[in-house]
Amino acid sequence: MSGRVAVPLAKAYLLLNHGPTVLVSSAHGGRQNVMAAAWSMPLDFNPPKVAVVIDKSTLTRELVDASGEFVLNVPSRQQAAMALAVGTQSGREVDKFSIVGVGGTAATAVGAPLIAGCLAWLECRVIPEPHNQQNYDLFLGEVVAAWADPAVFSNGRWHFPDQQRHSIHYQAGGSFFATGEAFEV
Ligand SMILES: Cc1cc2nc3c(=O)[nH]c(=O)nc-3n(C[C@H](O)[C@H](O)[C@H](O)COP(=O)(O)O)c2cc1C
Repeated sequence: MSGRVAVPLAKAYLLLNHGPTVLVSSAHGGRQNVMAAAWSMPLDFNPPKVAVVIDKSTLTRELVDASGEFVLNVPSRQQAAMALAVGTQSGREVDKFSIVGVGGTAATAVGAPLIAGCLAWLECRVIPEPHNQQNYDLFLGEVVAAWADPAVFSNGRWHFPDQQRHSIHYQAGGSFFATGEAFEV
């Protein structure tokens, strides 16, 4: 995988603040999985928290319910086809780690894997909110470790070095945007 350096927890919200599509990785009982999620957001600064929608129909939901853990991985434009693939097939039918471009490496604080080649990673523990989980498929998590590829994120800022290493934003039907030009005001 590309390099990664720890992001201070108080800065972890910056990895999601611009609204990228993420990959949710999970593991439990010797099984591991990954799915795409457009519906995630940062929720607090310190300790950092996130929110993500994980539908009841997914294997991810089963593994997150069972383990109380997940990782939000921020994929690059280069990984968009892979993100679509893991977002349109279920780990119940296919081992997604056999899909081209899907690799995992051990996280540090949770059992779910870090997806190789991503731009950033947030290791999360579920903050149980049974009502929200049951009624809205909405999961809150505390970020317990955060990482970024220093080629794209350092000193609290994203800086995309080339066309492929941009984060991505989902419309629908396989149509994405790449994160655009940064500007200061
Ligand atoms: C780009 C993209 C974004 C998605 N966003 C979400 C989401 O935010 N929440 C969700 O529950 N499913 C979302 N999905 C659908 C899941 O990724 C999909 O149901 C997946 O096949 C579940 O895999 P699993 O059963 O292996 O967990 C998205 C799919 C794509 C392609």
